[in-house]
Amino acid sequence: MAIRTIFPTQIFHSSLKPSQNLVNSLLSDTLKIAEIDEVGLEWSEERYFGGYTSYSSYNRLQEFSSSFADLENLIDQAVEDYVEALGYDIEEGTLKMSNCWVNIMPTGTHHSGHIHPNSILSGTFYLQMPEDSPGIKFEDPRLIMQMNTPAKSDDLPEEMQSFVSINAKDGDLVLFESYLRHEVPANQSEDDRISISFNYEYS
Ligand SMILES: [Fe+2]
Repeated sequence: MAIRTIFPTQIFHSSLKPSQNLVNSLLSDTLKIAEIDEVGLEWSEERYFGGYTSYSSYNRLQEFSSSFADLENLIDQAVEDYVEALGYDIEEGTLKMSNCWVNIMPTGTHHSGHIHPNSILSGTFYLQMPEDSPGIKFEDPRLIMQMNTPAKSDDLPEEMQSFVSINAKDGDLVLFESYLRHEVPANQSEDDRISISFNYEYS
């Protein structure tokens, strides 16, 4: 068949291979922040049912803690590779981490579908991923424009599906373009799922 595939959606997914020291410091900083962040705790109670996120409060953690600054350096290297794969014609250093925040999701907490406005790239570093805890579920950005399109078969390859779930393990990094709608289904594990999310802006 004379079929051409155009407009790919590229996702970066790899282990960041953080040192155990870095993981320990990030975990301990995250738990400390979750203890002292009254504004974030209140915000989370209303909008992040059962869990905690510093999205609205401590959201520039790369400037606040040396362990988060070390994490930023590691993520910067992965972002360089991702930018190359995406084919962006930009000068080095023009894409910078603008926000970075932590998320703690106990059993049952979920995060419904959303995009990250005003950013170019976004992503998540998975700090503590218990078995049975969800990774991230992406949605085909063209769905919103499909008005009378028939449903798709169940057995299509990943790149043809309308929803794609990525399972993540401890130490994994996922990067995506910020316009791409995604969600985190409910945590089915009895243990807390802990992740660090961030945005990159272009200047
Ligand atoms: Fe998100």
